[in-house]
Amino acid sequence: MPSHDEVLATIREQITRERDAGRAMTLAVGTLKQAMPDYSWVGIYLLDSNELVLGPFEGKPSPHTHIPLGRGICGAAAAEKATIIVDDVSADPRYLACSLDTKSEIVVPIMKGAEVLGEIDIDSDRRAAFGDTDQRMLEAVAALLAERMTPPAGD
Ligand code: SME
Repeated sequence: MPSHDEVLATIREQITRERDAGRAMTLAVGTLKQAMPDYSWVGIYLLDSNELVLGPFEGKPSPHTHIPLGRGICGAAAAEKATIIVDDVSADPRYLACSLDTKSEIVVPIMKGAEVLGEIDIDSDRRAAFGDTDQRMLEAVAALLAERMTPPAGD
């Protein structure tokens, strides 16, 4: 299994050559899903006015393709503008179930300045699968993606 630093370096290299934000997101999602055995579902939600809309993802199709701000762990991370790690989703009343196999989740906002553009959402079938090194790597990936994304019109 590659280290977190190696995965980040791979994504940085892939994205550096990629000017299209959609393709950059798809590449990052694919690399994270392939390189990290505990990441059972990897997706990116994009903020569109007051809801998060599912973009590229790998894993089983999610019933949650549109999540209002403030709902679910995804909506909470966007509203708080901060990464949320949940070690045991069954103990978190905010959790919106995607798969019965999911045990833990991390949601990392993609920010441009103080503005949320979207977020990286990852589920694991293992309890407490996400730690500081995951958070640091994913926040770095989010920053790389933000450089390629345009804030929604009107802002
Ligand atoms: N669990 C998320 C919903 C999205 S699915 O995990 C893909 C949440 O609670 O916001």
